[in-house]
Amino acid sequence: MEAQVDRKEVLAIVAKHDTRSGGLIAMLEDVQEAYGYLPEEALRIVAQAANRSLVDVYGVATFYKAFSLQPRGKHHVCACLGTACHVRGAPMVVEELERQLEIEDGETTADGEFTLETVSCLGACALGPIVVVDGVYHSKVNGAAVKGILESVKTASEPDEEAAPMETEDVTSAAV
Ligand code: FES
Repeated sequence: MEAQVDRKEVLAIVAKHDTRSGGLIAMLEDVQEAYGYLPEEALRIVAQAANRSLVDVYGVATFYKAFSLQPRGKHHVCACLGTACHVRGAPMVVEELERQLEIEDGETTADGEFTLETVSCLGACALGPIVVVDGVYHSKVNGAAVKGILESVKTASEPDEEAAPMETEDVTSAAV
């Protein structure tokens, strides 16, 4: 469902940032944080207020995989399909995620709970296959572990012992 965009809120985001180089990414990050994705109407407001062309704004919004032009689910599941994870069985992990969630890469479940995406490297190759759920890294994941990971998110139970936030990696920069 499309988000209801509050023009004043978007203008306040634009006003917070330098409208020259670099500021556009920060603006879009804030817009995505506010709406969960980048609604078209918000991008138009950003372009106009920041005195940038809509093409420029869409160029940035579509270049970085961290940005989404579609509403995302409540939980974001990101599986690595980079070479190191691939040779350790990542394709089977992704297949199992797709089977369990009944969606394909890039899609959101009908109940709006989960969005599944794949990336080409998350910067933790030695620990692959890697699956990141809502910013929490799960290392050395195999097909059998997928159900448990998803269940732990669904039930919001105690933190998964196999899941540990990365101590040194910047998740945001690693994912783009
Ligand atoms: S290839 Fe998966 S983390 Fe690098």
